Amino acid sequence: MSECLIRGRLLTFLDEPKGIDDTAAWRYEEDGAVLVRDGKVVESGDHAAIRRLAGPGVPVADHRPHLILPGLIDTHLHFPQTQAIASYGAQLLEWLNTYVFVEEQKFRNRAHADFVAERFLDELIANGTTTAVAYCSVHPESVEAYFSAAEARGMRMVGGKVMMDRNAPDALTDTPQRGYDETKRLIEKWHGRGRAHYAISPRFAITSTPEQLEMAGVLVAEHPDCYVQTHLSENRDEIAFATSLYPQAKDYTDIYAGHGLLTDRMLLGHCIYLSDREVSVLAETGAVGVFCPTSNLFLGSGLFDRDRFERAGARWSVATDVGAGTSFSMLETMDEAYKVLHLQGQRLTPFNAFYRMTLGNARALGLERHIGSLHAGADADIVVLDSRAKPAMDFRMRTATTLAEELFILQTMGDDRSVAEVYVAGRAMKGKPGKTPARVP
Ligand code: GUN
Ligand code: ZN
Repeated sequence: MSECLIRGRLLTFLDEPKGIDDTAAWRYEEDGAVLVRDGKVVESGDHAAIRRLAGPGVPVADHRPHLILPGLIDTHLHFPQTQAIASYGAQLLEWLNTYVFVEEQKFRNRAHADFVAERFLDELIANGTTTAVAYCSVHPESVEAYFSAAEARGMRMVGGKVMMDRNAPDALTDTPQRGYDETKRLIEKWHGRGRAHYAISPRFAITSTPEQLEMAGVLVAEHPDCYVQTHLSENRDEIAFATSLYPQAKDYTDIYAGHGLLTDRMLLGHCIYLSDREVSVLAETGAVGVFCPTSNLFLGSGLFDRDRFERAGARWSVATDVGAGTSFSMLETMDEAYKVLHLQGQRLTPFNAFYRMTLGNARALGLERHIGSLHAGADADIVVLDSRAKPAMDFRMRTATTLAEELFILQTMGDDRSVAEVYVAGRAMKGKPGKTPARVP
């Protein structure tokens, strides 16, 4: 049995905060602690009370005065685009063709995929992200690299092979049958193994024929506990092209709905230009719209209308979308989310931002029993945040008097430098990057 006590200023959410005064939605302990045993939270709360539950001589990691929160969760990004971040000057379709479809071809090579997978996970950990939902490339090798690297670190990760059979270079396309067979084999090998979850991943309507989306629908029916992920209504040219390829569909959302892909396990990246009908279809099916603010600004795509989702009772989550997204940091992502919503007259309170990065995103994945909060029995995935990590933050913090102000400073000014430590299933990870060589061996 391995046991340890993690001490600091504890913040964890019980529910979505309805406003800045909704103190029932979160739990804050000025002198708090989490007791961890064999990778799980035994209990969290007031330090003195938690200390009494621990065995004699329990090792203590004292992180005071830093904040202790559940590990952050990223619900959409692309592992093969780790070296495509900051590719200049194009909107979605040109950016995919010019940069992404060139970069992703390298992942046929397992050694390259292994190399990037290690760096990708190093970057997530450095930014306090303990669970992420990633697209791999079309090559099964990339999925093997991704889940093998995550398993070696004990991380709860979601991912899958991109299915794409048209409108991309030959080296990046499968066929409806091959996409089905390879996905099926990968699900059988990885889904539910340790902490791995598989996401059936048709890239988007433009790169899948109707036959391929039909095969994806068969996979969804055969594996209802797998996730499904794709992209929806990110860019006006994309929407025009996608709907021209599926003339029978009522709209872009109907392309996916018509192939049986819309369920409450479905994550739809972007969802910027939807009609009322489409938002109500998402609400009815429980599918999740994924808000990717740094990506939407970087590619000049548009502004996600969160209030419209909430008015319709549709679910939404938040994500980096690296490599169109410009940062692995969920703190920097929430900084941009705040600005995107502000531009539309919408508010994102600091408590709501921290809820979204933790319990909110866990709920979007249906994983709230395991991750996203520090309740007894949860996985001990934990991030320790330093609100004074940079001189400018330290100087600003001198005038902060409330927890809400501190959280807003962290979200607005913070990045990987604010991440003092990260625990994955109770194991301290920061400063212990994977054994990534400097270049592909
Ligand atoms: N739509 C289809 N593929 C992609 C991708 O890789 N990134 C983004 N941002 N949008 C997409
Ligand atoms: Zn994406």
